Amino acid sequence: MAAMTTDNTGTARDDAPRTGGPADSPFVRACRRRPVPHTPVWFMRQAGRSLPEYREIRANVAMLESCRRPDLVTEITLQPVRRHGVDAAILFSDIVVPVAAAGVDLDIVPGTGPVVAEPVRTAADVQRIRPIDRDDVAYVDEAVRMLVRELGDTPLIGFAGAPFTLASYLIEGGPSRTHAKTKALMYGEPELWHALAGRLAEVALAFLRVQIEAGVSAVQLFDSWAGALSEADYRRFVLPHSTAVLAGLADAGVPRIHFGVGTAELLGAMGEAGAEVIGVDWRTPLDVATRRIGPEHAVQGNLDPCVLLAPWPVVEAEVRRILDQGRAAPAHVFNLGHGVLPETDPEVLTRVVALVHELSARPADQD
Ligand code: CP3
Repeated sequence: MAAMTTDNTGTARDDAPRTGGPADSPFVRACRRRPVPHTPVWFMRQAGRSLPEYREIRANVAMLESCRRPDLVTEITLQPVRRHGVDAAILFSDIVVPVAAAGVDLDIVPGTGPVVAEPVRTAADVQRIRPIDRDDVAYVDEAVRMLVRELGDTPLIGFAGAPFTLASYLIEGGPSRTHAKTKALMYGEPELWHALAGRLAEVALAFLRVQIEAGVSAVQLFDSWAGALSEADYRRFVLPHSTAVLAGLADAGVPRIHFGVGTAELLGAMGEAGAEVIGVDWRTPLDVATRRIGPEHAVQGNLDPCVLLAPWPVVEAEVRRILDQGRAAPAHVFNLGHGVLPETDPEVLTRVVALVHELSARPADQD
């Protein structure tokens, strides 16, 4: 007989038979708004950055090269899982990896980020971005397969950059504070914008499909810089393209997470793009975010990464507040509001995982 249990809203409902494996993990169950034994937790940009073992392994290997070596990808992806006991692994890669595979000449410069040799300005530049298939990113396919074997019941999250965030790097030529060139092209040459965003949606979709076929248990679409737009412009210039990526995975059988920074005004629109889970940054409390996104979506977030640099009592109080506010959502995946900062003490991350698990544990007789 199926067990009765309480979900995140305290409502009793039928539980499905436990099948085991990553599809039955607390993380995937929360994404699907199913009852969980504890609130799952992982950290954006957990793979690398703050870990000494990561810095050691990367000492003489350039970023893009490390993304193309399945042995390194596997080791770096596993490092935070071993160390922190997080509920999910995220593939070590970068949002520009598939764009480089599509023929764009770019590099990832330490301390700066992606730098594009010839920024995209014309229709001919857009044409040069080739569609990609599995063979263009065979190293990702191989790394995911190795990781799925190594991880056992721990789910692996695949990811891609969303069209707007990728387009910004390609048009600006590198990171930008204002996204001025991107917006100038968007407003001034809307047809060219839509051609570029459409092509980047195809690249992102193909990249995610490779990862799903290789065995990832969930995917996250990173639209890190979408918060630079008004809701009206987001709906007109971005939402159709992000929707194309997410809708293209509707039959893939894995939950989809849609995340951006500074998206308080966009949360409702982002929720319409098709993902099961909406990532929220630290600016919007999760109960407020849930009212904007609606009851059909789980939420993910939203500890300010800078809080991890504060004394432990401050961290603990913030974790408690976020778990409390997350109870207003139909389901909650604990995370940061953006990526782990390189200067973060890894011990603090480990303590946060333990605290989230402890504070959110459901009584065993209800599981
Ligand atoms: O958890 C993980 O770290 C998984 C792997 C991962 C990386 N980048 C590795 C990386 C993921 C999920 C990303 C996504 C990514 N890359 C995003 C979306 C998430 C976000 O932070 O908003 C964006 C915008 C990028 C583009 C990018 N790549 C930036 C802004 C940077 C940082 C530049 C710097 O040095 O601070 C990169 C480089 C990068 N990507 C590094 C890592 C580990 C650092 C490179 C290095 O170690 O030399």
